[in-house]
Amino acid sequence: MRRLTYKVGGKTTTCYLDAGLSYLRMLSGKEQTVLITDEHVFAAHGKKWGGWNTIVIKAGEQYKVQATVDSIVGQLIAFGADRKTRLVGIGGGVVTDLTGYVAAIYMRGLSFGFVPTSILAMVDAAIGGKNGIDVGLYKNLVGTIRQPDFLLYDYSLLKSLPKSEWVNGFAEVIKHAAIRRAALFSELEQRSLPFYQKDRVALAKLIGANVRIKAAVVEKDELERGDRRLLNFGHTLGHAIENLYELSHGQAVAIGMVAACRISGEFTDFTGTARVIGVLKKYGLPTHAGYDPKAVMDVLRMDKKREKESMNYVLLNKIGEAVVRVIPVAQLEQLLVGIPAGAGAFSGKTRAR
Ligand SMILES: NC(=O)c1ccc[n+]([C@@H]2O[C@H](COP(=O)([O-])OP(=O)(O)OC[C@H]3O[C@@H](n4cnc5c(N)ncnc54)[C@H](O)[C@@H]3O)[C@@H](O)[C@H]2O)c1
Ligand SMILES: [Zn+2]
Repeated sequence: MRRLTYKVGGKTTTCYLDAGLSYLRMLSGKEQTVLITDEHVFAAHGKKWGGWNTIVIKAGEQYKVQATVDSIVGQLIAFGADRKTRLVGIGGGVVTDLTGYVAAIYMRGLSFGFVPTSILAMVDAAIGGKNGIDVGLYKNLVGTIRQPDFLLYDYSLLKSLPKSEWVNGFAEVIKHAAIRRAALFSELEQRSLPFYQKDRVALAKLIGANVRIKAAVVEKDELERGDRRLLNFGHTLGHAIENLYELSHGQAVAIGMVAACRISGEFTDFTGTARVIGVLKKYGLPTHAGYDPKAVMDVLRMDKKREKESMNYVLLNKIGEAVVRVIPVAQLEQLLVGIPAGAGAFSGKTRAR
């Protein structure tokens, strides 16, 4: 087991990399702990924590909403949870976001930890302390910033993760490499998803490297005024099309990254768009979308990151080096209209919700 700590706002979080789930006993007393997980993770692994107080929520982004928070709070009351109770979220990003959020508000704040079980949660959602819920079309509109005590990594939990969720998570892995680590980007180009699924040592190294990248960025910039914004690479457009169309987060971010690469060409000397497209394709991610620029712009206008008539947009100077540029909304609209849908374009259905 390798340990890594990061400190945000005076709080130290310890990541236990390459640990086993059984180590949870050492981190959190059974009597004081309530586990929160979802039905898929519980079905695949629930036997491993028999006897622990457990709240099982329905799986899926559509349950990352206030109604689920209310239901969890009701069950915490039934368990007699008090200020000494620690919540531990075992699951993907939906579970970790909900757990962190409930931990922040139940009795004005409980301590909490995470056992991330999806690639996305391991490399991204569980790290950084931003936890929230969706409201209508707006993802993560309501939430808190508060750091967990620990993150416990057990890569064997990934055995049950569906292939589509591996692909989803690799969008964030590719993002981290693109904004921060040229060497990691080259490694991803040379290797493949089946390689990482088979080679536990390589996977552990890859996840460890990604935890370090995100933790280092968050450590430097808890409130997202500087470097942390770089983590939004691909996410401005990504979030908009994820909400409008039937796309997974990873697919939407992949398309958003390609658009950001193309926009980069207008503002920086970036020339690596073909490499980014190549690596996304290699990991089964889409690179184009036949989205409606007008509908996308309507969502972007509501974006939290918008400042008056311009937006902060994360662009690349080169592979491994990202930069934030302020782009006027009108110019952004022109650029988005100008991005070709291209071969193999995804033509999305509007999501009914
Ligand atoms: N807080 C943050 O900083 C942050 C950052 C990125 C993403 N997020 C949030 O994370 C969420 C996405 O996370 P996600 O992709 O993990 O989604 P998720 O939690 O919905 O998990 C995806 C699917 O995989 C299943 N699953 C997870 N682990 C499994 C396992 N080991 N075995 C079998 N099935 C498993 C889940 O049940 C679900 O069906 C979004 O809500 C997003 O907003 C938060
Ligand atoms: Zn993301």
